[in-house]
Amino acid sequence: MPIAPRPATPDPSPGPQHIAIIMDGNGRWAKSRGLPRIAGHRRGADAVRKVIRGAGELGIPVLTLFAFSTENWTRPADEVSDLMGLLRHYLRNELEELGRNGARLRVIGDRDRLAKDIQKDISDAETRTRANTRIDVNICINYGARDEILRATRNLARKVAAGELAVEKIDEATFERELLTAGVPDPDLLIRTSGEQRISNFLLWQCAYAELVFVDTLWPDFGKEHLEKAIAEFRKRERRYGGVGA
Ligand code: FPP
Repeated sequence: MPIAPRPATPDPSPGPQHIAIIMDGNGRWAKSRGLPRIAGHRRGADAVRKVIRGAGELGIPVLTLFAFSTENWTRPADEVSDLMGLLRHYLRNELEELGRNGARLRVIGDRDRLAKDIQKDISDAETRTRANTRIDVNICINYGARDEILRATRNLARKVAAGELAVEKIDEATFERELLTAGVPDPDLLIRTSGEQRISNFLLWQCAYAELVFVDTLWPDFGKEHLEKAIAEFRKRERRYGGVGA
């Protein structure tokens, strides 16, 4: 009697619930093709679209993308202006696509330094995608983790000075409520593209226990299949949170 094939064992390890990505390599992608850097950023924006769709299809509940750091202002003025133009274009023209993906958008970062019209585009985009429930997409714009931690510290210090908060009451939960990511679960997987192996002032508090996956692919070439590979790598890791494991 033929032996019935064993049913496939379901993978018992939970997949990541929050993936954060440092999207790197747009400039090198463009340079290798003899194109201006903005061409790399434009293709990078196409990759953002592909990855949001892919993450939704893979059932990832939260995706956070690092689009513009507090340090990126030091780039040549024309590149900063090109990047701002691209973000403006994205916020105005991607809402339908975000809706199709069930994506709720939130922008994380210090908005005050952004142009007024971009600030308005951000709040419009957040309002118009608010009811989407499949995937939360956080885009970090003018974000820097040290800046965020300093702001949180100042806010808590003000509360202490005003007698609203006792120093002994400051714990991780109190601190997290002051961060720009308040209410967002910590990333459990951080991916950086383009072969660089640094965190570059991204979600320093939040990534305390994240698995780090560095891939050589340049961001404009990154897609759903690369995301799946990174998730497979994540599943292989044993997460111990400082304990001794199973
Ligand atoms: C890093 O590549 C990438 C950036 C600083 C910008 C990221 C922006 C995008 C992916 C496009 C716009 C985003 C959205 C959400 C529409 P790099 O320029 O530092 O690359 P390099 O290291 O090869 O020079």
